Amino acid sequence: MEYKGKVVLAYSGGLDTSVAIKWLGDQGYDVVTLTADVGQTIDLEGVKEKALKVGAVNAYVMDLRQEFVETMVWPALKANALYQGKYPLNSALSRPLIAKYLAWVADMEGAVAVAHGCTGKGQDQVRIEVCTNALNPDLKVIAPVRDWHFSRDVEIEYAKENNIPVPVTLASPYSIDGNLWGRSIECGPLEDPWTEPPSDAFTMTVDPWEAPDEQEYIEVSFEKGVPFAINGKEMDGVTLIAELNKIAGGHGVGRIDMLEDRLVGFKSREVYECPATVVLLQAHQALESMTLTKDIIAAKAELSLKYAELTYIGYWFSPLKKAFDAFFDSIQEHVTGTVRVRLYKGASVVVGIKAEKSLYVETMATYSEGDAFDHEAAAGFIRIWGLPVKLWRQVHPEVEAKGPELKIVSGAK
Ligand code: ARG
Repeated sequence: MEYKGKVVLAYSGGLDTSVAIKWLGDQGYDVVTLTADVGQTIDLEGVKEKALKVGAVNAYVMDLRQEFVETMVWPALKANALYQGKYPLNSALSRPLIAKYLAWVADMEGAVAVAHGCTGKGQDQVRIEVCTNALNPDLKVIAPVRDWHFSRDVEIEYAKENNIPVPVTLASPYSIDGNLWGRSIECGPLEDPWTEPPSDAFTMTVDPWEAPDEQEYIEVSFEKGVPFAINGKEMDGVTLIAELNKIAGGHGVGRIDMLEDRLVGFKSREVYECPATVVLLQAHQALESMTLTKDIIAAKAELSLKYAELTYIGYWFSPLKKAFDAFFDSIQEHVTGTVRVRLYKGASVVVGIKAEKSLYVETMATYSEGDAFDHEAAAGFIRIWGLPVKLWRQVHPEVEAKGPELKIVSGAK
């Protein structure tokens, strides 16, 4: 086999990417692995050892949690990004970062290619390949799992022949991807949309019916759209999200179950658990309702959907995404304040909002003492506001304009 040079493989430590180390070796490559810690709670040292044992020539393990939060998660939160209005993009957001470090390590190692363990049916392959080439157009990207055409049994056989440890957790029917921003669960029993997700699909959230009988109130404080404290206690982003995952997950908050329209053309049943994410998105949006003007809220809602879409389809490193960020950053300037949230048996509800630069003016809104609203002005406003439709009716009296049938319920003479 002719020597082809070095390849940097995104390595999770699971069976597919372990087999990929050996398989890429068989193709003539020296394999360097890169394992990114984005908060997925795995034994990172164990993963490194495993990569070297299976045959990698070098193995990088990188703690990318802070960068993940600051450069991927916070921008998505500022944008209130939800794909199809439901999926907070937890998996999608980690891919551009992994791609960035694949390209970076490739440069450092003088590699000719990068590789990933994604299948040919999802978005992750698209994101990693599009993002890698958006950063370095010269890098070749290899997708062993897409190319090797192994059945599961053949793959396990190949692993055994090559002394690649086959994890016992292979018994799990689910395909899982996790990080600080949430956990994606696919396959197995979930492939039937009529089947309720079984309890064993979840690890970050308790079943809502098993959650404590006592409700819990928490306060989340934001500065310029970024959360920085829980219950008045300041903490860095990584700690804040981890804490909130525990608190909200303990109340069964954050489960999302949807039929998702994949980029590759078909619908797929997707289940997510994103406790901190769900609470932060709700709280952030509530604070925006107090600190942003009506027209900005409306314009933003449209751009949010577009932003979610381009994150989903792998255009993270595109000029459009950068321009959107500039808009979202600019409007977050005054999104500073505190939101109070009640957590109870699977539900999180915003029950209080306060902001120093609140646009909610109580003397305008009140129906009680101290009302400063100009009631007189309302009459003149309505005369002008209603003028177009009034004029139209005056010109077209013949066009039918029937109200609802009058039904006298009582008091008829
Ligand atoms: N459907 C989601 C997405 O495309 C989740 C993907 C999760 N990946 C996985 N390997 N289970 O972003």
